[in-house]
Amino acid sequence: MWCRYLLLLAFLFSFIHNGTAGVTSEFIRSEFPAVDIPLDHEVFAVPKGYNAPQQVHITQGDYDGKAVIISWVTPDEPGSSLVQYGLSEGNYEYTAKGTFTNYTFYTYKSGYIHHTHVDGLEYDKKYFYKIGEGGSARKFWFKTPPKVGPDSPYKFGIIGDLGQTFNSLSTIEHYKESGGETVLFVGDLSYADRYQYNDISVRWDSWGRFAEQIAAYQPWLWSAGNHDIEYLPYMGEVTPFKTYTARYPTPYQASNSSEPLWYAVRRASAHIIVLCSYSPYVKYTPQYKWLEGELKNVDRTKTPWLVVLMHVPWYNSNDAHFKEGESMRSVFESWFVKYKVDVVFAGHVHAYERSHRISNINYNVSTGPCYPVPDKSAPIYITIGDGGNQEGIAGKYIQPQPDYSAFREASYGHATLDIKNKTHALYHWFRNVDGVKATTESFVLHNQYWCLEKMYPCI
Ligand SMILES: *[C@@H]1O[C@H](CO)[C@@H](O)[C@H](O)[C@H]1NC(C)=O
Ligand SMILES: *[C@@H]1O[C@H](CO)[C@@H](O)[C@H](O)[C@H]1NC(C)=O
Ligand SMILES: *[C@@H]1O[C@H](CO)[C@@H](O)[C@H](O)[C@H]1NC(C)=O
Ligand SMILES: *[C@@H]1O[C@H](CO)[C@@H](O)[C@H](O)[C@H]1NC(C)=O
Ligand SMILES: [Fe+2]
Repeated sequence: MWCRYLLLLAFLFSFIHNGTAGVTSEFIRSEFPAVDIPLDHEVFAVPKGYNAPQQVHITQGDYDGKAVIISWVTPDEPGSSLVQYGLSEGNYEYTAKGTFTNYTFYTYKSGYIHHTHVDGLEYDKKYFYKIGEGGSARKFWFKTPPKVGPDSPYKFGIIGDLGQTFNSLSTIEHYKESGGETVLFVGDLSYADRYQYNDISVRWDSWGRFAEQIAAYQPWLWSAGNHDIEYLPYMGEVTPFKTYTARYPTPYQASNSSEPLWYAVRRASAHIIVLCSYSPYVKYTPQYKWLEGELKNVDRTKTPWLVVLMHVPWYNSNDAHFKEGESMRSVFESWFVKYKVDVVFAGHVHAYERSHRISNINYNVSTGPCYPVPDKSAPIYITIGDGGNQEGIAGKYIQPQPDYSAFREASYGHATLDIKNKTHALYHWFRNVDGVKATTESFVLHNQYWCLEKMYPCI
């Protein structure tokens, strides 16, 4: 009897303890094997016609969302970099002319990679566009965002570490049903660097054709991951990000960045800052100085939401890549707290995790505390490297779950951030279950500036 009483006490105690501790999901997921889809699969189909444009993708082309960069590859000859576009289908009344580039990688010669900047667009419109020539021409469309302002609702999708497996396909099929309007991509696109020699470039091409089903119709805001570096001395390729930067441009000049790898845009009611985990970031480096300036550009009365993307998470409790984000965290974290960043999305770890609002900015190397503490001004950190690439799931966590970790689950999936107004956004994480999309986490995100700093009524 006494023993039972003790057990009950122990149970109650563990319950109380769990009230503040995080949750490690015990969900047993079924998944496809972590192998790439065969190259002859229809998701990689080459479009019909001589020199037909392929691997079509778009990204924001300016600071405020009135421009896009449209990119594609022509395989046989340079062809034309012309984009014809207009506000109704079949009526392509405007034109924009871009440029093309090509490169070699080992002995592979790339196709002709076109980048056409289309600007002067109207906000909140559907544009139809046409690229390629004659019978090989192809048609797509995209929607421009509402004008930058505090009352512009918008739904972002978040995808990371995608690769090109059947799990990757499941992720993007689910994302298509989500109503997301722009993808915030947190790095590691194709995983082509898992191959060797010319097979690497073949898998960049197949990934481009795979992602087109979404990327031709809505912008992806790219951030770079370690699989995009491709520093490969064994085959004489030592220029970091050579393939990635040739194929996936970013509007970095619009935010006065010196490199395509870090930049910022404003879209609807969000200010989005993209950082590069693999470029120098310590004091006096370009990325450091640029971020210092860009944070001062943030005007929460125009863009209430401040979102940061990077590849390597700062608050991760998975065995995979544990502590890899510490060096960048120690440099930038106090700024994120000072400027009240709402949410930070990172990838790299092939699983899902969400932190509490915590910070660790009082650490003093000579003395004092060194442990993260609850901090209302701190961002929520979300690790979402769960797109489903060929390296498979990262299923082993640090035990016990650290206090900073609110929820963690080793599954594949994607998320959406549905901004409703300047105070409220709805966040959802969807896991892939047996090919079915399942909502696993959802909560209301209160704006850090309006709800916390301005004490605006946010209930
Ligand atoms: C780029 O394409 C041109 C025209 O086909 C070709 O002459 C040149 O060798 C290519 N350059 C590279 C780096 O592949
Ligand atoms: C970039 O620099 C130009 C010239 O100094 C300035 O007019 C513009 O506002 C800057 N843009 C941003 C986003 O900092
Ligand atoms: C760090 O701790 C030392 C020793 O207590 C103190 O002298 C110094 O001012 C502290 N530095 C900071 C940045 O807090
Ligand atoms: C903001 O959106 C939330 C969620 O949809 C809603 O409950 C709230 O009333 C809205 N606030 C205003 C001021 O419209
Ligand atoms: Fe990574």
